Amino acid sequence: MTSALVDTYGRVATDLRVSLTDRCNLRCSYCMPEEGLQWLARPDLLTDDEIVRMVRIAVTDLGVRDVRFTGGEPLLRPGLAGILARCAELEPRPKLSLTTNGIGLRRTADALREAGLDRVNVSLDTLRPDVFRTLTRRDRHHDVLDGLAAARAAGLAPVKVNAVLMRGVNDDEAPDLLGWALEHDYELRFIEQMPLDAQHGWQREGMVTAEEILAGLRTRFDLTPEADGARGSAPAERWLVDGGPARVGVIASVTRPFCRACDRTRLTADGQVRNCLFAREESDLRGALRSGASDARIAELWRAAMWGKKAGSGLDDPTFLQPQRPMSAIGG
Ligand code: GTP
Ligand code: 5AD
Ligand code: SF4
Repeated sequence: MTSALVDTYGRVATDLRVSLTDRCNLRCSYCMPEEGLQWLARPDLLTDDEIVRMVRIAVTDLGVRDVRFTGGEPLLRPGLAGILARCAELEPRPKLSLTTNGIGLRRTADALREAGLDRVNVSLDTLRPDVFRTLTRRDRHHDVLDGLAAARAAGLAPVKVNAVLMRGVNDDEAPDLLGWALEHDYELRFIEQMPLDAQHGWQREGMVTAEEILAGLRTRFDLTPEADGARGSAPAERWLVDGGPARVGVIASVTRPFCRACDRTRLTADGQVRNCLFAREESDLRGALRSGASDARIAELWRAAMWGKKAGSGLDDPTFLQPQRPMSAIGG
């Protein structure tokens, strides 16, 4: 029997984000330091079977309808296609998506689509290879562009592109990125930088705000807000570009938080349930899994974890503290 993941504010979590690894082949400066991080030890990661079991419980017992695999970089997980294929067999079949840096998609997009992947979101912050190298500390710009093209060719529609603007690095690129996205039929979203970097270097004053991003875009494009109700629980606010149908989105977690409509629950690569991106506590479901808990017991622990979800991210509280884990370990 399905009994939903609800919290004390009446929100219902139907969207599960699963981190498959905390590792990554880039080193985006807003995410992690050049030398990388202390990666999770392999035995601590959920196995493919454990991940599929958790997704099955979420879908069949807890009412989850959308499952997004993230990382770190989820394409680094060898079992990804198999995990997708097994999740695609669940009843009711969940929508399956991936958030990736795009490196590796060129050779995997067709197979992932075949396995059951419905769509992808790809991170790309710049059109300039030299800026890409500065921002990600790797020379892989071309691989990302190839990966995007492969995703589109494989029919993983809509292909969304996520861009974080950094002051003095790529903050002048918003109109160029949008022009490029329109040309290639990608749905572009700009993301306000959040305090989730491993280095704890985020500063509100340094962040490029939604307002600035929109002002930049309006120097070249006419933007009209999408119709009321079109957003649902999506983090992105969207605008029609030059009358539509093309759109551009802004995910303004800091200056225009959308916590009231949040429908998310998260599972980290080491099997901890998080009820919020910014949660300070996690619920250890891996321990339960590995000590022989039944599906019903795991579902009950998951419900209890979500019941305790706070009203919002707490970003505006003077006492706000960054989560102990960085974004790459939580699963953006
Ligand atoms: P769609 O279903 O395509 O709209 O996916 P999405 O935008 O939710 O997912 P994606 O992985 O592309 O994330 C885009 C940005 O939204 C990233 O910076 C995420 O960290 C951020 N994001 C995702 N979920 C949440 C959330 O619950 N709260 C906040 N504040 N940001 C989130
Ligand atoms: N703030 C905002 N977005 C971030 N991402 C990674 N770190 C941050 C951060 N500190 C983005 C990535 C990716 C998505 C999952 O989150 O660029 O597109
Ligand atoms: Fe890797 Fe994503 Fe972090 Fe960049 S933001 S280093 S692509 S996990």
